[in-house]
Amino acid sequence: MKIIQSVAALRAHLDGFRRPALVPTMGNLHEGHLALVRQAKPLGDVLVASIFVNRLQFLPHEDFDSYPRTLQADCDALQAAGCDVVFAPTEAELYPQPQTFKINPPSELTDLLEGHFRPGFFTGVCTVVMKLFACVQPRVAVFGQKDYQQLMVIRQMVQQFALPIEIVASPTLRAADGLALSSRNNYLSKKERLEAVQLSQALQTMARALQAGATDMARLEQEAMAALTARGWQPDYLCVRRRADLQAPAAAEVAALAQHAGLVVLGAAKLGKTRLIDNLEV
Ligand code: PAF
Repeated sequence: MKIIQSVAALRAHLDGFRRPALVPTMGNLHEGHLALVRQAKPLGDVLVASIFVNRLQFLPHEDFDSYPRTLQADCDALQAAGCDVVFAPTEAELYPQPQTFKINPPSELTDLLEGHFRPGFFTGVCTVVMKLFACVQPRVAVFGQKDYQQLMVIRQMVQQFALPIEIVASPTLRAADGLALSSRNNYLSKKERLEAVQLSQALQTMARALQAGATDMARLEQEAMAALTARGWQPDYLCVRRRADLQAPAAAEVAALAQHAGLVVLGAAKLGKTRLIDNLEV
């Protein structure tokens, strides 16, 4: 496995490959990332995993500085998972000048959910993903479904810019108790880690109610928020959305969408200082 830091060396190394596959990450890898790598491996003729903690997608009060940087352990894990190339540029390499050209996704995709609570987040994500695409020139890229809205935004960016890249979704990997794997789980204390599963349980409760025919979404959402709040969480949102566009479904369409795999329940909540997100397709 090659570890490459510069764009020029990456381009030279990838010259001659016809179908690079890319798994973009911010490092501090866990089994969920390695599952993306294993899924991506047979999809291309060379597998590149990028590791870059992207300042542009963090708000000033967020954890950019403390985000764990574990390059050596990440490279060991990637090698064992069958990765061919790690692209781990420095900030000066990827952003040699202030990145004033940016990709601004449309507000109908970003004024809601994560975009609402983390303004600018998707501009940062799209800008770095576009730049990684320009460096690696992948034919296929794999993204986790845990970041459901991110996956949708990237799919639409690729479609609107007519990029010749197939975007593949990878299912969320969960710990034995059901907690979605995330690098930010490392921030949880032992007590918080035991509690953390309540987010996915709240989403499961909502999903079960929808499958059983519930149509009063406002009530479902309020009950889920209240249940987590009572346990000491600070929820940003727990809500029912259409899978197709992440908009709230009209009451009249909820039952049909629930029966025809058209809904997703999504949640984001803070437990102590750690903000967790999760989702479940219904
Ligand atoms: O999902 C992530 O880890 C990041 O948002 C990504 C796609 C690597 C861009 O920095």
